[in-house]
This record gives sequence, C-alpha cells and structure tokens, in this order.
Amino acid sequence: MASMKSLRGTAPSPAPVAGDGGAAVVLDGVTKRFGRGPIVLDDVSLSVAPGEFVCLLGASGCGKSTLLNLVAGLDRPTRGAVAVPGHRPSLMFQEPALFPWLTSAQNIELALRLRGVGKAERRTEAERLLELVRLEGSGGKRPHELSGGMRQRVALARALAQDSRVLLMDEPFAALDAITRDLLHDELTRIWQELGSTIVFVTHNVREAVRLGQRVVLLSSRPGRVAKEYAIDIKQPRRIESPDVSALSVRITDDLSAEIRKHATLRARAS
Ligand SMILES: Nc1ncnc2c1ncn2[C@@H]1O[C@H](COP(=O)(O)OP(=O)(O)OP(=O)(O)O)[C@@H](O)[C@H]1O
Ligand SMILES: [Mg+2]
Repeated sequence: MASMKSLRGTAPSPAPVAGDGGAAVVLDGVTKRFGRGPIVLDDVSLSVAPGEFVCLLGASGCGKSTLLNLVAGLDRPTRGAVAVPGHRPSLMFQEPALFPWLTSAQNIELALRLRGVGKAERRTEAERLLELVRLEGSGGKRPHELSGGMRQRVALARALAQDSRVLLMDEPFAALDAITRDLLHDELTRIWQELGSTIVFVTHNVREAVRLGQRVVLLSSRPGRVAKEYAIDIKQPRRIESPDVSALSVRITDDLSAEIRKHATLRARAS
C-alpha cells in the first residue's frame, strides 16, 4: 500500500525567490492574462529541483500549456518571473510535430545541427539517441512509415538531441493507446534515471502523473493556481495498475473533483 507520506496532500510551497537554492526551474508569483481576457494563471509559485521529475496535473483549460510555454520562454508572464537558470529547456508537444519529408534520423539530426553539432558527429549522435528510445534500425523511415508510439519516440529523441538538462513535456502520450503509453512510461522513466534530467510533465491523467512523477502538483481551474502538492515515494519502476498507484490516484482524483466543484460554485455565485 502507499505509505502515509505518499498520500499526503500539502499546502502549496511558499513562494521561492527566483534563482535561489539552485533550482532548475523557478516560477515566482506568475500571473498570466491574454489581452483583456480572464486571468488564466494566478500567482503561481513553483520550484523544481535539478533532476526532479514533476507532474503538473489539472483539468482541461486550467492553464497547463500556458504555464509550460512560459517556462519554455515562448511567452511572457503578465506579472511575476520565470527562471530556468543556465538552460534553454527543450519542449515536447502533444503531437510529434516531425518534418514529414525527413527521415527519423534526419529529424533528430536537424535538432543537432541547430545546436551546432558537426556533420560527422550528427550521424553518430542520432544513432545513439535512436538506440536510447529503442528505435535502432528505424532511422531511415519517414514519419508516415512509423506507428504513433514510434513517432513519439522520435519526438522524444529529438527533444533529447537539444541536450538540455530541462525537458518540458506537454501531454506527450495523450493520443496513444494504453499499451503503447505504458511502454513509453517505462522508457521515459529509464531515460530520466539514466540522464538525470529535470522533467516537467503536464497531464490531465491522474494515474499517469502518479506513475511517473516524484511530485505531483495539482492546479485548480479558472484561474489556474497551485492547489496541492503530493510527494510520491512509491518505488520505481511503478506499474500504472498497481495498488499503490491506484490508491494515491483515487485520493488525488477526489481532490481534483473537489477543486473543480469549488470553482464551479464560486463562478455560479459570481454570475
Ligand atoms: N494565445 C492565447 N490567447 C488567448 N487565450 C488563450 C491563449 N492560450 C490559451 N488561452 C486560454 O487560456 C486558458 C488555458 O489554456 P491552456 O491551453 O493553457 O489550458 P490547458 O490546461 O493546457 O488545457 P488542455 O488540458 O485542454 O490542453 C484557456 O481558457 C484558453 O482559451
Ligand atoms: Mg494543454
């Protein structure tokens, strides 16, 4: 069974000071609003340690992608600060977004070229990355010749080709069937353990978050705020259907439903 420690839901961590404590990713009082629209993220403070695997969990539309885009530097907060000291994070999207006219290896090599890696080294490095995601022998195939799971592996290899110590993943496995997703969870856990990267993984799938993360951060909806955090001390490798993962998932799902109900009531009263 999950220990009491793994089942605890704590209050959000106190606001960190940007760049303080050697964190890999710091959000300090981040608020985001698009134009004159509603506040999407409200005073979000979060600190991710180097090598930590954090899952951001929340309902559709609560601002998860917005938050990840801010960390990736694709957008700026309306208020507050985002810092990724010393690194330009790599971002993996929900869709593989591979160039269809390039082979798997060429898609990866392109990322290496943009990083300034020389031609000879690019080929060897692409082969090594394909091996890391268990796609050795598929380097010559174009995306349409690969299955959905294989395409996501190429996208993961391409993200790793950017050689960033910080990997941001926005629901990368959401469109996959359960078996392929299970396999990729195993691969991602293995790669994370091998490389020691910092990973911020966005999902609305509670079990996926508990299967993967060392910490799950639950975001509330409209506006997105850090509602609760859970330390996950279930030993890796975990199985998504194990009793430990299930018990904690039920608890988090209850908290998530309570958050959604609370905000629906508040909105109804305000209107
Ligand atoms: N560029 C934009 N301009 C205006 N509104 C935006 C923009 N990007 C996101 N939003 C709004 O911000 C809110 C949060 O969107 P976001 O994509 O971050 O949600 P999400 O949590 O990632 O949802 P999902 O789980 O469905 O992917 C939504 O109401 C969305 O309409
Ligand atoms: Mg999203």
